Amino acid sequence: MFRAALTAHIFLLLPCIQAFYLPGAAPHSYAQGDKVDLFVNALTPMMTGTTGSKLKSLINYDYYNRKFRFCEPDGGPKTQPESLGSILFGDRIFNSPYDIKMLQENGTCRTLCQVDEVTGEEAKFINDRIREDYAINWLVDGLPAAEMKLDVRTKELFFDMGFNLGNNEGKMQNVPALNNHYEIVLRYHRPTPETFRIVGVLVWPASIGGPQTSTPNCDIEGSQPLLLSEDSPQSIRYTYRVMWNESDTPWATRWDNYLHIFDPRIHWFSLINSIVIVVFLCVMVSMILFRSVSKDIHRYNAIDISEDVQEDWGWKLVHGEVFRSPKNPLLLSVMVGNGAQLCAMVAVTLVFALLGFLSPSNRGSLATVMMVFWSFFGSVGGYISGRAYASLGGNNRRKNAFITATALPSFIFAIVFLLNFFLLTAGSSGAVPFGTMVLIILLWFGISAPLSTVGSCFGSRKGALENHVRVNPIPRQIPPGPKYLKPWASALLSGILPFGAAFVELYFMLSSLFASKAYYAFGFLALTAGVVALTTATVSILFTYFLLCSEEYRWHWRSFVIGGGSSFWILAYGIFYWASRLRLDSLSSAVLYMGYLVLIALLNFLITGTIGFLASYWAVRKLYTAIRID
Ligand SMILES: *[C@@H]1O[C@H](CO)[C@@H](O)[C@H](O)[C@H]1NC(C)=O
Ligand SMILES: *[C@@H]1O[C@H](CO)[C@@H](O)[C@H](O)[C@H]1NC(C)=O
Repeated sequence: MFRAALTAHIFLLLPCIQAFYLPGAAPHSYAQGDKVDLFVNALTPMMTGTTGSKLKSLINYDYYNRKFRFCEPDGGPKTQPESLGSILFGDRIFNSPYDIKMLQENGTCRTLCQVDEVTGEEAKFINDRIREDYAINWLVDGLPAAEMKLDVRTKELFFDMGFNLGNNEGKMQNVPALNNHYEIVLRYHRPTPETFRIVGVLVWPASIGGPQTSTPNCDIEGSQPLLLSEDSPQSIRYTYRVMWNESDTPWATRWDNYLHIFDPRIHWFSLINSIVIVVFLCVMVSMILFRSVSKDIHRYNAIDISEDVQEDWGWKLVHGEVFRSPKNPLLLSVMVGNGAQLCAMVAVTLVFALLGFLSPSNRGSLATVMMVFWSFFGSVGGYISGRAYASLGGNNRRKNAFITATALPSFIFAIVFLLNFFLLTAGSSGAVPFGTMVLIILLWFGISAPLSTVGSCFGSRKGALENHVRVNPIPRQIPPGPKYLKPWASALLSGILPFGAAFVELYFMLSSLFASKAYYAFGFLALTAGVVALTTATVSILFTYFLLCSEEYRWHWRSFVIGGGSSFWILAYGIFYWASRLRLDSLSSAVLYMGYLVLIALLNFLITGTIGFLASYWAVRKLYTAIRID
């Protein structure tokens, strides 16, 4: 199934994705009796599959948070090495006391440990987390532990990563039952008779209450669920049973079961929807720009020759104004530079993702690659900012170089610090650790900022784009234009099309971001991103043309805002998503959600605004160099 979906994804580019394996993804072969490590990751809130269910929190908790009272390994939990992106996306991986050996103790019921004196307060904490549908995340040989589920639409079995901390719905209404028993099924593949590879990790959690005897009890059917009392101390016994099951899935395709795309038809629908939008737009733009503009040019040039009357109308009237410096060229060029840096990062990351380098089997690779590319594309950002600044008539190059290198990262840092503060007060493990912060600051000051400065130098030295159109010494009066060309109206109007092309993918992205699910429909995402870029560029050109026709020549800022118009729709959609898919009770979760949403909208604004501005700049230059001006 996944292979079908994946080939569907990358049908354009790489039909041979299965051939790719990456550093850290080399197969691990076990001999019989070898120790198999089970690592534990942070607990994450889960959107249960049933329709109408809502995500109830956005906060991750460390597995060894004291209040959970999970069994700890001898000598205390030890953190496992992780990549930068993995930490940024909330992974906190530790070792565990589970004693698993390849093909040993098949089906034996074993006690993990018994924790005594679980206080009422701790029980309440656990019960609250169960009510919020928290999931436990384990990793065995790099594979996440999953629950096997049935896709109701396609009737296919797939592995849903993570499993429930407890049971909310069961027999007892309102009293959550804690899962204290785990049926672990490890699927192995045998490439040679003596070597074994793990190709699937399934867990069925269960709640086993009742009196505790000296022998462990794994009888799921015949037991009452374990309900924690919030009034008096009690003890919890954790039990587990490992079963080894041979499988014919080879190691190379072991992720296929995990990367299940629900209803690929929706993605296709969205893609076709976007393509229709693009075709519609292209037709419109080609009609307007190629027919009326070339007619205009023809007429202008003809009139100048045949009659001696100098009569201008439409966009030609403002030819002496269009290259006048806009207000605040510094800020505009800084935004364009940073937008270009982000654009380059997104484009190259998507290419890498399409090539199969960033699948979830490489934990955190997506965020790591994004951070690294962002740092290196500081040079692109600096260059474009420097050049744009010179072209817009600015002359304080140093200030431009400095602000380009520092403004956006400082702003994002401020937001992240604020969110971190809320996460820490909520006792969450999701806060970015100090060491990671230092690493990011190093990336920024060690790579991005110097490269950006060098880029700015080159950009300024290259100087302004030459325009052969003189700027009038005295600015023209601007007549009042039509209502739909007012700044806000035009931004909102122009944002509809790119947003309309992307909102289905946006839904999936928000869902995987907030429900801590890996995102892997990169093929659809890349196509959608291409469509959005194209739509943004054409819409901006179109609106800039309308503006110039109504003799409004201050198009520089306007084209940026028009290009970034989809961000307003993203904000609105984010709030709608909150209302329809989330039920956030705590202040921290709400602040976190709004913080992320504002960040997403801001980055989108910079990226699409830059596309709009650069496209309009290109079009304006083309337009005004095509006519004869005396
Ligand atoms: C382990 O037990 C299960 C169920 O009893 C059985 O299906 C499986 O073949 C056994 N595996 C091994 C390696 O013996
Ligand atoms: C083990 O594999 C067999 C056949 O592949 C399957 O019928 C059985 O349900 C599996 N056992 C478990 C516990 O998954």
